[in-house]
Amino acid sequence: MAKMWAGRNSGETDKLADDFNSSIRFDSRMYQQDIKGSMAHAAMLSAQKIISAEDAEKIIDGLQTILDDLQSGALVIDENAEDIHMFVEEVLTARIGDAGKKLHTARSRNDQVALDLRMYLRDETQEIETKIKELLAVILDLAGKHTETIMPGYTHLQRAQPITFAHHLMAYAMMLCRDLDRLADGRKRMNISPIGSCALAGTTYDTDRYLEAEKLGFDDITLNSLDGVSDRDFCVELLSAIAILMMHLSRFSEEIILWSSWEFKFIELSSEFTTGSSIMPQKKNSDMAELVRGKSGRVYGDLMALLTMLKGLPLAYNKDMQEDKEAIFDAVDTVKMCLDIFTGMIGSVQVLPENMKKAAQGGFINATDLADYLVRKGLPFRDAYKISGQIVGDCISRQLVLETYPLEDYQKHSPLFEKDVYQAIDLLTCVETRISAGGPSKDSLQKQIAFVREKAQL
Ligand code: ARG
Repeated sequence: MAKMWAGRNSGETDKLADDFNSSIRFDSRMYQQDIKGSMAHAAMLSAQKIISAEDAEKIIDGLQTILDDLQSGALVIDENAEDIHMFVEEVLTARIGDAGKKLHTARSRNDQVALDLRMYLRDETQEIETKIKELLAVILDLAGKHTETIMPGYTHLQRAQPITFAHHLMAYAMMLCRDLDRLADGRKRMNISPIGSCALAGTTYDTDRYLEAEKLGFDDITLNSLDGVSDRDFCVELLSAIAILMMHLSRFSEEIILWSSWEFKFIELSSEFTTGSSIMPQKKNSDMAELVRGKSGRVYGDLMALLTMLKGLPLAYNKDMQEDKEAIFDAVDTVKMCLDIFTGMIGSVQVLPENMKKAAQGGFINATDLADYLVRKGLPFRDAYKISGQIVGDCISRQLVLETYPLEDYQKHSPLFEKDVYQAIDLLTCVETRISAGGPSKDSLQKQIAFVREKAQL
């Protein structure tokens, strides 16, 4: 079939070229946005007396039947169409005749695709935000139960200082809060309407871009028509935010994988969110977390694809830009899946506080607190640090820990040691006395939980 744009060209393209050129496989998911955008366009054209009210009504009614039929399945997307914009216009004209041919007055597919994409992605962004909030709800729930569950905090993956499981969980909650901020911030720039930029240079018709933007729920219009059709910053920004979010989920995944190992055994994932091995009967694998970690690489790839595609493009529209959709759609689909998986996985995890505590007791993670004890008794920190280090060394050679190191031995290292040293190095004391804002004390954790609860409106 000859193309709608047949004229200058015969419109009889090679089948190979057709398939190569077509985007319907992936842009048909924007059919609702395309149709709603067209309805607003027809209404604007009629309000501005560019087309008659009767034609506008026919167009809008026709578009509604297309929307209904696509939703009910009565109309199926024609895979041979060039893209979703052409498909809708072709079906409309087939259904209502000449009035359908007037819809494309004072617009172009260049501003149309930019409009559809902004509308589609602003909804997707909000969906991602909702899913982050759902994940935050289960994290907060778990953190609330573990404000006194001692675990070792690590640096260099070496046991470092005592914290609580809630403290560790809330670190991820803070990252997710920043993700929420980033997404919402990007949405502000996304929610600007490009429609009316037309092909690149606006139009001679007396259109009302503000009216059209308002009908479609935009906050404003783009102010330069070349920029309006060429700008994909909103995709790059969203993809960057998603890439950062995936990086957070990937780091969290890594810890979940470690914590689930026999070596740590801090947590046990539920059967619903683990898999077995086809050969090793004892295995319970954290495949979900591994897949999230793996998929972060795929999303970074999407971001690179988008940045690279855009970097050399002259203004205004170039067909290269059709490549924006697969990258951003893939990233959006992937992150939504990963968030759902995470919410299920965290929501059903079994925490093993005894194992966390054992690990916390075995690694001299209260050695800093021992030094601080001497500082409180008047010793300069560097001297206290040295003495504590020597005590740790002695403990190791005698297979003791600070809690079981005899008082006489402590006193050999410094006369400042008294019986109250054992209270000072008790792990719960160590956590509770870390009273600095943002620290692991129960009070601080409650503040952190309250902050996140408010941020995520939970
Ligand atoms: N399918 C195209 C895209 O996704 C729509 C815009 C086509 N415009 C054009 N001048 N060929 O970018």
